Amino acid sequence: MNDLEITLQDYQIVLSDDLHGLAQWLRSAAYSQYYVLADDNTQRYCWPLLQEACADIALQLITIPEGEDHKNLATCEIIWSKLLDLQADRTSLIINLGGGVVGDMGGFAASTFKRGIDFIQVPTTVLSQVDASIGGKLGVDFKYGKNLIGLFRNPRRVHLSASFHRTLSDRQYLNGFAEIFKHAIIGSGELWDRYRNTANLRELDQLALLKDALLIKKEIVDLDPFEHGMRKALNFGHTIGHALEAWSIEHSKDPMLHGEAIAAGMLMESFLSVEKSGLPGTILQEIIAVLTRHYPLRTIPAGIEPLLWQYMQYDKKNEKGHVLAVLIENIGKPRWNMRLHRKDLNEAVSFYKNLQS
Ligand SMILES: NC(=O)c1ccc[n+]([C@@H]2O[C@H](COP(=O)([O-])OP(=O)(O)OC[C@H]3O[C@@H](n4cnc5c(N)ncnc54)[C@H](O)[C@@H]3O)[C@@H](O)[C@H]2O)c1
Ligand SMILES: [Zn+2]
Repeated sequence: MNDLEITLQDYQIVLSDDLHGLAQWLRSAAYSQYYVLADDNTQRYCWPLLQEACADIALQLITIPEGEDHKNLATCEIIWSKLLDLQADRTSLIINLGGGVVGDMGGFAASTFKRGIDFIQVPTTVLSQVDASIGGKLGVDFKYGKNLIGLFRNPRRVHLSASFHRTLSDRQYLNGFAEIFKHAIIGSGELWDRYRNTANLRELDQLALLKDALLIKKEIVDLDPFEHGMRKALNFGHTIGHALEAWSIEHSKDPMLHGEAIAAGMLMESFLSVEKSGLPGTILQEIIAVLTRHYPLRTIPAGIEPLLWQYMQYDKKNEKGHVLAVLIENIGKPRWNMRLHRKDLNEAVSFYKNLQS
């Protein structure tokens, strides 16, 4: 496939099989210096691909330790110090080469260095390609919570390449794919049919599926940039999913990844959709078959509902003290601002637990 460009607000998202288009753009851009921010893994797996495409460009590498545990101000200090040591000035460019951690933190570090220098996102996980790198949200974790310190600022450009998928573990790959399933469920019966009939998702045309997911996201964001209505649909699976994720980070020895929690959330919110928004039972069965094929059911301990409900009280989508969720009438027909009650959560959790037996 030729490079494809999608314009979102004031920047371009470029999708490409390889990194040659990125190298070309870097050659034509007039920055004084180019810094690449990577973590241990992306230095190992992704940096060689970038170096190969950009052999004639002077790129300086800054590497940070991998993982959410390092998404904090201490790591930003390492980045800022390194930039100073390497004499970065206000016309330097930072290239964030990594997953959501590198993208969120690198964008934040760039936006605050010398009052803000340009950065581009080169996301290397599926999650960051379809979600974290799009939308301009930047930041780091602080004290009590995720992404508590940060800002909105758009990158100069986002460059997506499916060539990074090869080195992702199956777990990381599926983690990001949960968001693609979400886009298909809320956005397109055609995509849903394609994905639900595919046993090995990695055999699909990776670039085409990134494109389809991004086009659905762009259409929704363009129609409703300030999240007054339709954009809320992107939160499908996230009301219960976020609560599960938060619970498991705090209480589980093997915490769920974001996408794994969202997959469970989509199952439970689809179940509630049958009664509350008329989702046909046959479609619920389809959703169960597909999501449980890719996302093994997790054990949820007894008595967890009050804790989950507590997390749900803090959900950003809530209004006037009501817990609101996105339910579906059918594939491609989301309904947002649907109120959930405590009893709905109890029923959804029992439904999920029963799937195991
Ligand atoms: N800004 C937003 O709107 C937004 C949206 C969703 C999530 N996020 C953030 O994104 C982060 C999660 O993103 P993530 O799942 O990409 O996490 P991540 O950046 O930690 O990447 C996951 C793991 O994969 C490794 N990795 C990355 N690319 C690889 C590759 N090509 N091959 C092999 N290994 C590779 C990383 O080193 C890491 O160990 C969270 O901090 C979350 O808060 C932000
Ligand atoms: Zn999500």
